[in-house]
Amino acid sequence: MKKIYIKTWGCQMNEYDSFIIKNILEKKINCKNTTEYKKADILILNTCSIREKSQEKLFHQLGRWKTLKKKNPKIIIAVGGCVANQEEKKIYKRAPYVDIIFGTQTIHKLPKMIYEKKKNKNVLINTQLKTVKKFNVNTFYKQKNLSAYITIMEGCNKKCTFCIVPNTRGKEISRSHKDIILEIKNMVKNNIKEITLLGQNVNSYFYKNKIYTYTFSKLLYKISEIDEIKRIRFITSHPKDFSNKIIDSYKKIPKLVDFLHLPIQSGSNKILKLMKRGYNVERYKKIIKKILKIRPNMKISSDFIIGFPGETKKDFEKTLKIISEINFDNSFSFIYSKRPNTIASTMLDNVTLQEKKERLYKIQKILLYKKNQWNRRTIGTIQNILVHKKHEKLSKKLIGTTENNRTVYFSGSENKIGKIVKVEITKMKKKYFEGKMVD
Ligand code: SAH
Ligand code: F3S
Repeated sequence: MKKIYIKTWGCQMNEYDSFIIKNILEKKINCKNTTEYKKADILILNTCSIREKSQEKLFHQLGRWKTLKKKNPKIIIAVGGCVANQEEKKIYKRAPYVDIIFGTQTIHKLPKMIYEKKKNKNVLINTQLKTVKKFNVNTFYKQKNLSAYITIMEGCNKKCTFCIVPNTRGKEISRSHKDIILEIKNMVKNNIKEITLLGQNVNSYFYKNKIYTYTFSKLLYKISEIDEIKRIRFITSHPKDFSNKIIDSYKKIPKLVDFLHLPIQSGSNKILKLMKRGYNVERYKKIIKKILKIRPNMKISSDFIIGFPGETKKDFEKTLKIISEINFDNSFSFIYSKRPNTIASTMLDNVTLQEKKERLYKIQKILLYKKNQWNRRTIGTIQNILVHKKHEKLSKKLIGTTENNRTVYFSGSENKIGKIVKVEITKMKKKYFEGKMVD
């Protein structure tokens, strides 16, 4: 029996894809997953190209695998993911010992490619887009504990000027609502209680056939009808498509968590325009205001890009200002990275690296402060906790998570596992809270 080793970089969607790869291969060719790459017959790298650094990592990794292949020429090395879509043949040119290059949407073709590779000396490349066939596998990705991911759409029709994703994941394709519901029902049978819907821009989910038209909010309602699912999350949302209908669903679907990742990217309208994000700071604030009216305890998180071409000190200060105004929870910030074939790559990148680093340092310090502020504010409050499991070491202690994904330890009996319980948060430790159940 062959052994496969899969290394995954990047976003949750890549993690989900790798999981599908593992399942398809185990099903279709006689093989088993291994966590020891030195023992593998097939080495698979699922790559990320969102920033230049993640792309460079690919060749360092391949270099390491090359030595294994020298010792055992029968080893198959396959590269997939966003860098594969972006660079295709160029990967082979730089690393001619690579056997297979597959794309973000051709992972279902891997078994056949591996089979063909045994007869064929040349590198095999298939990075075709526009297919959702890869989803036709009856399996699901358990994230951890009682949570799982599910991809509902893939690709992006927006053209944010900095972003490479529309090139690597292609145009938007939404999965049929039936497939999604079926997959969730399968998850439920395996005791999943919380799901995270994945997509580059979940808000623009749109599925239509002769009978049905499904939008994102309609899909949310449909999923919320599944009794066993206690919590629903989704990533990523785009402020431009965050419609009143979606906002309204927070009123009607209690299972939607009080936590939303809604990337603003910058607090400067000038920069937002250069990024072609399709909203301004005022519109963003309006959306947040509407959500908070329905859900006063909602916590918002965001992504920020620092040092976008043309970003002045003043623009950056506007970003710091919006962070204070919104009080973001657990957010991410990145130094702008120039990506091939994007509009921003033609703009004059006039912010020095030193300046970018200083700005990043500043923003990350503030974001961490805000996150800790939310932690401190949580002490003394009563939170809805999804109980995932019992503590392995501390007897009679349970482990659960808050709606904004913080871990909580508290005493309780095992029959609470899989349920939502009310817990008063009493103490903050470095990596978790302590609390006591109140119902
Ligand atoms: N809607 C997408 C966003 C993709 S990338 C999704 O989640 O699927 C995640 C974050 O990476 C973006 O929100 C942005 O803040 C950051 N990012 C994207 N392109 C970037 C670039 N060229 N340089 C730096 N950061 C970037
Ligand atoms: Fe990228 Fe903008 Fe789409 S960040 S994924 S082009 S919404």
